[in-house]
Amino acid sequence: MIMKFNTKTIHGGQEHDPAYGAVMPPIYQTTTYAQSTPGGHKGYEYSRTHNPTRNALEKSFASLENGNFGLAFSSGMAAIDTVIKLLNPGDEIISSNDVYGGTYRLFTKVYEKYGIKFHFIDMEDATNVESYINDNTKLIWLETPSNPMLNIIDIRYIADIAKKNNVLIGVDNTFATPYLQQPLNLGADIVMHSATKYLGGHSDVVMGALIVNDTELAKNLYFHQNSSGAVPGPQDSFLMLRGIKTLHVRIQRHCENGKAIAEYLTNHSKIEKVYWPGFSDHPNHEIAKSQMKDFGGMLSFVTKGNNLEEAIKIVERLKLFTLAESLGGVESLSGHPASMTHASIPKEEREKTGVVDSLIRLSVGIEDIDDLLEDLKQALG
Ligand SMILES: Cc1ncc(COP(=O)(O)O)c(C=O)c1O
Repeated sequence: MIMKFNTKTIHGGQEHDPAYGAVMPPIYQTTTYAQSTPGGHKGYEYSRTHNPTRNALEKSFASLENGNFGLAFSSGMAAIDTVIKLLNPGDEIISSNDVYGGTYRLFTKVYEKYGIKFHFIDMEDATNVESYINDNTKLIWLETPSNPMLNIIDIRYIADIAKKNNVLIGVDNTFATPYLQQPLNLGADIVMHSATKYLGGHSDVVMGALIVNDTELAKNLYFHQNSSGAVPGPQDSFLMLRGIKTLHVRIQRHCENGKAIAEYLTNHSKIEKVYWPGFSDHPNHEIAKSQMKDFGGMLSFVTKGNNLEEAIKIVERLKLFTLAESLGGVESLSGHPASMTHASIPKEEREKTGVVDSLIRLSVGIEDIDDLLEDLKQALG
């Protein structure tokens, strides 16, 4: 049956459990499976390779992103790590320059020493990208909207360039979620999620996901998933499946609240600038409108005077917006990227991309909007 997105979050790739008809997939808390004779099993041998609860989740991931294959990992970083393992020494990757700090760290501190070369470039002007492609280029990696500057990259345009040059393109879709944006439909080869964020949605599971269409690519990724073994357990897979069932209603409210807060902040006398792709003067607002259904619940802002101490005071005074790493849960969070999520990027590098000392990032939750606005009002003073 062809399902619409809001049905897929609940039913996509799911079957009632064959044993007793359980409507939610049971938590198959087992490492191994009985065999009647060597090789005589029911499709499951060992839980690093396959587990029924994880399989149900992987089918849900695939369904959400309109892909043929889904893979679950024990973190978003493990998912990205698995993609980079497809490459060989001497290969080159073109990456957007304001990727998540942990992604930058994995690329530069782990994979450069294995002889993989990275080019970190500004992709907001998508016409920039092609000039960096050479015979060694194997992958283009990008995040849109980006973390924490909410830059928007034209996925369709870059996917066309990638196809033309026979290069893979991977999109970190963590901020948008498949409710707002489906990169495979726009021509991407690989979609990645830190499912820790909006997919799980309740700040209680660390997990990663990859979704692809191509059978050979999927085989290669499954090989590395099983070889390196960074897989989530059945309990976490169950929690993720439960979170996904409300993804569409949560994101609708995240978007509504995000818009109200972006508009409030932009009119506040103490605020210099608000970064949110829903503003018509956002440099890539038109692209955001064309590839996203709405503008999400993430935004960042800088106070007038760009004062570090003042920014720290604001995040300390916020009560409903908990000062914490991460994003995408039902509860609102604030973050100070320069000292938190992006601390692993050298100051000079991060400032080039706009991550200045006073930048504050908000993950707007789904609480009552009046309470959230009241909290910001008292914290900004
Ligand atoms: C955009 C983005 N990609 C990847 C990651 C890494 O995911 P995880 O923390 O699940 O390993 C994060 C984590 O904050 C992120 O925000």
